Amino acid sequence: MNETKISVARPDLSGNEEKYVVEAIRSTWISSTGAFIQRFQEEFAELCGTKSAISVCNGTVALHLAMLAMDVRPNDEVLVPSLTYIATANVVRYVGAEPVFIDVDPNTWCMDPKLLEASITRRTKGIIAVHLYGHPADMDAINRIAAVHGLWVIEDAAEAHLARYKGQVVGGLAQMATFSFYGNKIFTCGEGGAITLNDPHLELRIRTLRGQGMDPQRRYYFPVTGYNYRLTNVAAAMLCAQLERQKQILERRKQIFQIYHEQLAGIPGISFQPVAPWAEPVPWLFCITVDKQLYGLSRDELILRLDKVGIDTRPFFMALHHLPPFREESAKRGEILPVTDQLSNTGMNLPTYVGLSNDDIERIATAIRSFRN
Ligand SMILES: Cc1ncc(COP(=O)(O)O)c(C=O)c1O
Repeated sequence: MNETKISVARPDLSGNEEKYVVEAIRSTWISSTGAFIQRFQEEFAELCGTKSAISVCNGTVALHLAMLAMDVRPNDEVLVPSLTYIATANVVRYVGAEPVFIDVDPNTWCMDPKLLEASITRRTKGIIAVHLYGHPADMDAINRIAAVHGLWVIEDAAEAHLARYKGQVVGGLAQMATFSFYGNKIFTCGEGGAITLNDPHLELRIRTLRGQGMDPQRRYYFPVTGYNYRLTNVAAAMLCAQLERQKQILERRKQIFQIYHEQLAGIPGISFQPVAPWAEPVPWLFCITVDKQLYGLSRDELILRLDKVGIDTRPFFMALHHLPPFREESAKRGEILPVTDQLSNTGMNLPTYVGLSNDDIERIATAIRSFRN
């Protein structure tokens, strides 16, 4: 086999990324102050329709700062979906609190709002709603339940840059939202993140915590214990270039999704990600689920077969409530999350990136069609 390996994701840095990085270097502003940081924060807030955006060094620390800003403490509980990347739950532990896992809705693959109420206890402080695989969570329903119980809500929008919920862009649909710009994300700078929000008090608290806890009015006076979670101006330079091409990047990804849909349609046992009527998802990683009875191979067998012909794919996230850091507490609470289990065992992501050619997609789809037993 001499065909080149197709990866799951690859950044597209073909615009002004290199030029702006060189500009940042030549300016000597390579740490966390500089024109690109300023520009990125302004542009990203505008795109998300929020008063501010705070740049940080990755999506995990964005969530950690959100926990600190919301004053989450030991023994508190935070409701999170079980079908998500582990960072969503890890950050709850960073502050000594406990993530309580909620099953996902089969129609959105995001946290099922109907299940929230049953998991709320006197210890519950808030909810992290994840916009999974580019699809927004049902924010109105989640916010309604949160309001009744006096809880805060944070959007984890790491995988859903510019997705829309009922016409409104994610990032401004709750108290705050967090983003990741890791190399496989829609917009990337290698490692990076952001928090979007409207509340100036929370903004000040987060900016203070992000910069070692230094009082913004008094240099080298530290009223609180903070962190160094800042993004560099060099990374922000890349993000500014990415945002310049946001339409192009999203357009090509949409085409890729469209072609996958066409080419994989009608294969028995292969199903696609659902889209709620109120959702305008963004094309992050194309998702399929594999029904072994109908397709003839399990998801894991299909992943191996594709790998053998040079096509890299990835299984859906493992259900967090079964993983070693969380399973004991989850079992004590008696959590049974069948939709998460089903998706986690049968779902997989296919290669999705701007540089993927139509021929590559055809090669992937042909392989999937041909492996059917
Ligand atoms: C849903 C979700 N939350 C949080 C993160 C963490 O972001 P990062 O890898 O930038 O720390 C990611 C992805 O990487 C993610 O997919």
